[in-house]
Amino acid sequence: MHIAIFRVIVAAALILAASDAAADGKETYTKACALCHASLPPKLGDRAAWEPRMKQGLDAMVAAVIKGKGAMPPRGGNPNLSDDDIRRAVEYMVDQLR
Ligand code: HEC
Repeated sequence: MHIAIFRVIVAAALILAASDAAADGKETYTKACALCHASLPPKLGDRAAWEPRMKQGLDAMVAAVIKGKGAMPPRGGNPNLSDDDIRRAVEYMVDQLR
């Protein structure tokens, strides 16, 4: 009986986590990336700045953030961010160009 209730709770939590993915990306961006990307190139929403970078594909962009690139420190300077957090933040940033 308890196990059944536990399963329902876990299932509900998983659904919530999945539907929350986009918001997470925005939150990570706001906390860890906006510091630079709200004002410095490549700037959020600046299609001309992002298009050449997007040509390499999302995976390469995520990898560049994890490793660091140019003036951007590894993981945007936030070692606590998981690869998934970074991917969602990059997805959020790419979404702002649509
Ligand atoms: C300290 C400032 C700074 C922070 C913080 C920062 N970035 Fe960057 N970011 C840059 C700069 C500068 C570049 C351009 C690097 C280059 O091409 O030389 C860049 C480039 C990028 C790119 C393009 C990479 C590519 O392959 O060309 C992505 C994607 C990106 N940032 C995402 C993020 C995300 C996501 C975060 C937060 C987790 C973040 N950045 C935090 C400064 C920053």
